[in-house]
Amino acid sequence: WKGVHKTMEMVNITIDNRKIQVPKDYTILEAAKAANIYIPTLCFLKDINEIGACRMCVVEVKGARSLQAACVYPVSEGLEIYTQSPAVREARKVTLELILSNHEKKCLTCVRSKNCELQTLAEELNVKDIRFEGETYKLPLDDFSPSVVRDPNKCILCRRCVSMCKNVQQVSVIDTTERGFKTIISSAFNKSLNEVPCTMCGQCINVCPVGALREKDDTDKVWEALANPELHVIVQTAPAVRVA
Ligand code: FES
Repeated sequence: WKGVHKTMEMVNITIDNRKIQVPKDYTILEAAKAANIYIPTLCFLKDINEIGACRMCVVEVKGARSLQAACVYPVSEGLEIYTQSPAVREARKVTLELILSNHEKKCLTCVRSKNCELQTLAEELNVKDIRFEGETYKLPLDDFSPSVVRDPNKCILCRRCVSMCKNVQQVSVIDTTERGFKTIISSAFNKSLNEVPCTMCGQCINVCPVGALREKDDTDKVWEALANPELHVIVQTAPAVRVA
C-alpha cells in the first residue's frame, strides 16, 4: 500500500525559501503538505490515483528544464522548489482554462455546484473567462443505470473513478477509451453502465471531483437490478471502501 512510508531516512529540501527535512520517499506534494504549504491538485487522490495526469500541481524545481508535477516528483537531498512563482501560477491557470474550454459549463444546474473541485479551483485561480474557444466534444448522457448517471461532457479525465473501480473495488467496468481529443472514460465499447457488471457501489461517484458521475434516485430499479443473481455474486465479493 503506497500510503505507508517505508523509510525514516531524511533529506533536506527548500520549499519557497523554507528549509525543511522530510522522509526520503516523500513526493514534493507530501513534503509541502508536511510544511503546511498549499499546492492545488485535481487528479490526485492519495493512495488511489497518483498518476500526474492533470498538471494542476506543477511547481518549479531548480535545475529542471520544465515545471514538474508535485504529486509524482520524488524529493531528494538539496532540492529547491518554488510553488508560487509567476510561471507556476500562469501554467496552472492556463491548464485550468484548457480543461474548462471543453467542459460543459452548466454549473448553475449541476448537482455538484458549490461542491465541485473544478469550480473551487477556478475561483482560487481567478479564472473568470475562457480564453480558448474551439471544437468541443459532445457525447450522450448515460442515465440508463438504475443508480449511476455518467455525463461524459463534464468529465475532466482525472481517472480517479477508473482507479477506484479497478484497483480498489476490483470491478473494472470503466476505463480510458479512444485517444487524444476523443479520449473518454467509459465502459468497453462505450456501453451503458447498465449493460456491464457494474456493482452500483457508488465509489466512482464518491471520488469524482466534478459532476461527471452522480447518483440517480431510482431506488426501486436498484433493487430490481440487484435481484439479478449473476450481478449479486459480484456485489457480494466487491469490498466496500469509502473514501473521505
Ligand atoms: Fe498532480 Fe494532477 S494533481 S498532476
